[in-house]
Amino acid sequence: MDKLDELQNDAPGRIQAAATLVELDAVESETVGRKSPIAKARRGLGAIEDSTERAQTGKRINDVAVAITTQIGARRSVLEANEVNAALEADKVDVTLPGRVPARGTHHIVQQTIDEIVDIFVALGYEMVQGPEAETSFYNFTALNIPETHPSRHESDTLYLNYGDSADEVLLRTHTSPMQARHMEKNDPPVYIVVPGKVFRSDAIDATHLPVFHQIEGLAVDNNITFGDLKGTLAEFARQFFGPDTRVKFIPHYFPFTEPSAEMHAYTKGRWIELLGCGMVHPAVFEHVGYDSSVLSGFAFGMGAERLAMVRHGITDLRTMIDPDIRTLEQFR
Ligand code: DAH
Repeated sequence: MDKLDELQNDAPGRIQAAATLVELDAVESETVGRKSPIAKARRGLGAIEDSTERAQTGKRINDVAVAITTQIGARRSVLEANEVNAALEADKVDVTLPGRVPARGTHHIVQQTIDEIVDIFVALGYEMVQGPEAETSFYNFTALNIPETHPSRHESDTLYLNYGDSADEVLLRTHTSPMQARHMEKNDPPVYIVVPGKVFRSDAIDATHLPVFHQIEGLAVDNNITFGDLKGTLAEFARQFFGPDTRVKFIPHYFPFTEPSAEMHAYTKGRWIELLGCGMVHPAVFEHVGYDSSVLSGFAFGMGAERLAMVRHGITDLRTMIDPDIRTLEQFR
């Protein structure tokens, strides 16, 4: 019985010490398996002649075997549960963790300004259209009643493209106004359009000049459009862009394609500031595009996007608009 006593004594410790199911299987085979002391004792039963003693020994073997098997079963449940939990733990996704937000870009301050201005006019019923950046001198000047002798036609002001020397030269448009003529040529009145886009001038870069900048052109043509409509529309624009209390004033000016012409100034941030050029469409412009100037009238305006962005954000140097430094750009999210 020594072996069985020994087994009964140390089996519980070995079972508890098994840290994995594999280790527990090994303990099981060593304690109650086919080569275990239990199996050996069972095989020895036949040699016991006394039937009472045989029965007692058999019961003793069985009790020990049942006790060990029960302990192994309990330990197995614990180890199995541990393994399942460990697998779940290793696999878990914490859906409550905050997400990783990708760094997002933003539109440039000039594009933001253009979008905002266009939106204001679209809400007033205008349509946005765009025109070519490479223009002919006809649309850029002639159709807009700008005489052959006008200084803005000179190479010192205008960037001409090398497309030959025909009378209708190709150039980089110096303003968005050519789209007035292009649009009216292709569309019957009424016309209510805004035209954002890049314009080009033969200027060196300094605090107040860029060779490439952006304008937003506007044109309204209908029956009975008056200077009052021009003033009301542009004053409303200034109020939406700068705030509801913004005052505006119109100062006489000269543009070849409008008559009368004016500059609109707005009072904002404590001072008067020139915002845009405007006027009533000159009859000569209507004639160039085949509109009947005896029944139609209209107004036009043009403004610089960089300039409006600077006024809005209190920027004093135009070069800020082309500064690619991330610290500059991040200020205007
Ligand atoms: N095209 C002019 C410029 O670039 C701006 C302008 C003035 C546009 C008056 C207009 C206007 O439509 O009516 O300086």
